[in-house]
Amino acid sequence: MAAKSTGVYEAVPLHREGLTPPSLAPGSVPGHVACVMDGNGRWANSRGLPRTEGHRVGESTMMDVIAGAVEVGVRELSVYAFSTENWRRSPAEVRFLMGFTREVLRAQTDDLLAWGVRVNWVGREPRLWRSVLAEVRRSERITAGNEALVLNMCLNYGGRAEIADAARAIAADVEAGRLKASGVNERTIQRYLYSPSMRDVDLMIRTGGEQRTSNFLMWESAYAELYFSDLPWPEFDRTQLWRAIEAYAHRDRRFGGAVDAVATPSGPGSASVPGEPAR
Ligand code: IPE
Ligand code: IPE
Ligand code: MG
Repeated sequence: MAAKSTGVYEAVPLHREGLTPPSLAPGSVPGHVACVMDGNGRWANSRGLPRTEGHRVGESTMMDVIAGAVEVGVRELSVYAFSTENWRRSPAEVRFLMGFTREVLRAQTDDLLAWGVRVNWVGREPRLWRSVLAEVRRSERITAGNEALVLNMCLNYGGRAEIADAARAIAADVEAGRLKASGVNERTIQRYLYSPSMRDVDLMIRTGGEQRTSNFLMWESAYAELYFSDLPWPEFDRTQLWRAIEAYAHRDRRFGGAVDAVATPSGPGSASVPGEPAR
């Protein structure tokens, strides 16, 4: 079963109250949004429920956010489903999360296929359950022809692990004579990441009230705009995604550059690129 690449997809289901995305100039919609889907366990525990119930409810939030991303015109969405650090959790929770991820992929791939979403696994193989890997590979195969949105399922993913894995592969290629050490630059490192075609993250959202990135897409989000929501992931939805995108649209992304609002003829407003002045 392989996807047709017709570019004509089923419309995503509407928001439950029929709300529609904000109209934004195409240039102000982030191409790549990354979500740290956090706060499931605390949300459940605060209701007297086991942590696993928070993960279950989080599945519908994820599908709603994917639908909202398609509606607003985001091209790539990365979701942090399981980090290389999450192996530190209790064996019961790890077991639940592995089995549950497999179930979610099995249950949702048909909808993702219909909506034009292409699933892309991002992470490392060691320790990841083979059945989970097989399931995510199956979703990738089924949705391979889709072009509306790339959904990066970050599963057994860690930013430092990704950079270390890239460094090891680069070192091996240098050792084997396939690469010159003096030629290694930022583009080389990009080519050795788990998903070399991934674009830089424009907007990173974290729910659940914590203000940290927890090792998510370290290389790719070097210049991402950060947005923190106090809502736990089970209470987040596509309208919150749109709110984050509206905030993003008002950010001034300078990438290290600067514009002098009061330029003088010889000052930073002049066109030539200066070297170090002679002393
Ligand atoms: C995020 O929610 C989901 C995963 C890490 C898989 P948590 O499980 O971290 O929930 P909190 O942060 O403990 O509430
Ligand atoms: C980040 O959340 C990982 C995922 C959402 C999968 P955590 O809950 O694991 O992060 P910390 O432990 O609060 O930093
Ligand atoms: Mg957490």
